[in-house]
Amino acid sequence: MTPILEVEDLVKHFPVHTGIVLKRTVGHVRAVDGVSFDLHKGETLGVVGESGCGKSTLAQVLMRLEPPTSGKVRFHGEDVFSKRGKALLALRRQIQIVLQDPYTSLNPRMTVGDIVGEPFEIHPEVAPKGERRKAVQDLLDVVGLNPEHINRYPHQFSGGQRQRIGIARALALKPEVIVCDEPVSALDVSIQAQVMNLLGDLQRDFGLSYIFIAHDLSVVRHLSDRVAVMYLGKIVEIGSEDEIYNRPAHPYTQALLSAVPVPDPAVRAARTRIRLTGDVPSPVNPPSGCRFRTRCWKATEICEDEEPALEVRGGGHHPSACHHAEEQHLLPSS
Ligand SMILES: Nc1ncnc2c1ncn2[C@@H]1O[C@H](COP(=O)(O)OP(=O)(O)OP(=O)(O)O)[C@@H](O)[C@H]1O
Ligand SMILES: [Mg+2]
Repeated sequence: MTPILEVEDLVKHFPVHTGIVLKRTVGHVRAVDGVSFDLHKGETLGVVGESGCGKSTLAQVLMRLEPPTSGKVRFHGEDVFSKRGKALLALRRQIQIVLQDPYTSLNPRMTVGDIVGEPFEIHPEVAPKGERRKAVQDLLDVVGLNPEHINRYPHQFSGGQRQRIGIARALALKPEVIVCDEPVSALDVSIQAQVMNLLGDLQRDFGLSYIFIAHDLSVVRHLSDRVAVMYLGKIVEIGSEDEIYNRPAHPYTQALLSAVPVPDPAVRAARTRIRLTGDVPSPVNPPSGCRFRTRCWKATEICEDEEPALEVRGGGHHPSACHHAEEQHLLPSS
């Protein structure tokens, strides 16, 4: 089956300027630096990595909110970046985004009805004018909000409810793909689970495909079929939920996992905590060879000289970008 989305060697560099009037480009932030993956229908791909590794930039480029530096994205086999006019408008319907901060992403002067119904202004074919109020009320109902609150303003809702408003808006145009950029990071832990469950239900009911971005491996586990781990603009490991959580091969993934709290004391005792030292290097001037080598306990000479490709290595079963990749067999924690 053709993947719904194919991302091929995607690159996004931002120029770094000096000077106020005469701007001179002195370098580039390599925010996304050669990222490839597929997304299948009905699937959730988790994208995980520390702050600044390029997750939101990846989302922005996929949404065509930022132009790519290079690379290809295909949606149902069709090139996304060459689309203009009507074809671009049609594409924009199909891929929607839910953002992290439910406090700033909703216009405080618009009612919930106007916010959720706004996409219909651009795509009147989805809901004709006379049916819009009903359509918005249906959407509020679907995300677990009271349809009678259609005339309220964002400040009258809690954080979790505001995120539901954002989700209703993303659903309005019946998209196939939703990019969720840390949709629960700003919410209380108890509310996070409710919003995650809602996203899971919506996926099942409407056959949605998700790209689900998070800082933390524990957040995406429940929802993800596959997970991609990013470090400094690159995917360092990608695999099924089972492969990433029970048989991680890249030292960075192993370190991230060792920091995830494990409820079972027996499993916890069997795990060793890997502490990463040092900061994430600057994406303007990443280390030569393997970008993770400056923080890696396995690093040798080859890591400095040669950039490791993302490929299946050393008797493993899923791709990782490490010269010394070795699957670590962890006891399942659930
Ligand atoms: N418009 C921009 N201009 C210049 N640099 C940018 C721009 N947007 C992002 N960057 C830089 O690109 C890098 C990746 O940023 P990005 O926001 O994609 O990371 P992220 O993984 O989403 O981080 P976080 O977890 O904090 O949201 C960072 O170094 C950031 O400073
Ligand atoms: Mg981000």
